[in-house]
Amino acid sequence: MNNPLRRFSQRFIEFPVFQKLGLQQMKCDILELGCGSGYGAALLARLRPFTYLGIDLMEEQVELARCRNLPGAVFMQGDASHLVGVADGSKDLVVIFGILHHMPGWRDAIRECARVLVPGGSLFLEEPGKGFIRRWDRLFKWGHAADAGFDLAELEAELARNGFLIEKKLRALGFGSYHALKKEGL
Ligand SMILES: C[S@@+](CC[C@H](N)C(=O)[O-])C[C@H]1O[C@@H](n2cnc3c(N)ncnc32)[C@H](O)[C@@H]1O
Repeated sequence: MNNPLRRFSQRFIEFPVFQKLGLQQMKCDILELGCGSGYGAALLARLRPFTYLGIDLMEEQVELARCRNLPGAVFMQGDASHLVGVADGSKDLVVIFGILHHMPGWRDAIRECARVLVPGGSLFLEEPGKGFIRRWDRLFKWGHAADAGFDLAELEAELARNGFLIEKKLRALGFGSYHALKKEGL
């Protein structure tokens, strides 16, 4: 995951796609799930948020992220499917750069996103669908589990079930990027 190709893609494709979907500079509290070694945090720092919290399951990734010394950024070890210490309605923006397909508990992570966002808050999320994962595994031997991932239709249904409205999306070649809004009044 910490390879130059991954960083290139995140910087020149994935982050700009999020910007096209509406990610912009705003004074807000950001949570990034599956922050890895903090490369996404460095990109999100361009938005000049009030606060940034990055959470990742792997302590060694969290340590690498901390070593970036990004001003105001806080990194914590934790499980995206059960966010301990993140209060209900405490975040304006949640960002996920492609981690849900690694998680058997991905539906719980979406429920957690809905819980921690303020009403009207934004979720920026990008994931490969099952078909995309299989094709890339055949080509690049990435070694995902045989049952890893979900269809993008399942992902979209789960967003709706948790009170999200898909504001904008871009789907290409079985990969989906989304800007979803938590409905007001939930
Ligand atoms: C493919 S890497 C992506 C890292 C980073 N978001 C990026 O785009 O480079 C997947 C990351 O998700 C993290 N992860 C997997 N399951 C997780 C979970 N349940 N909760 C939080 N992070 C998780 C892994 O530790 C890993 O850092």
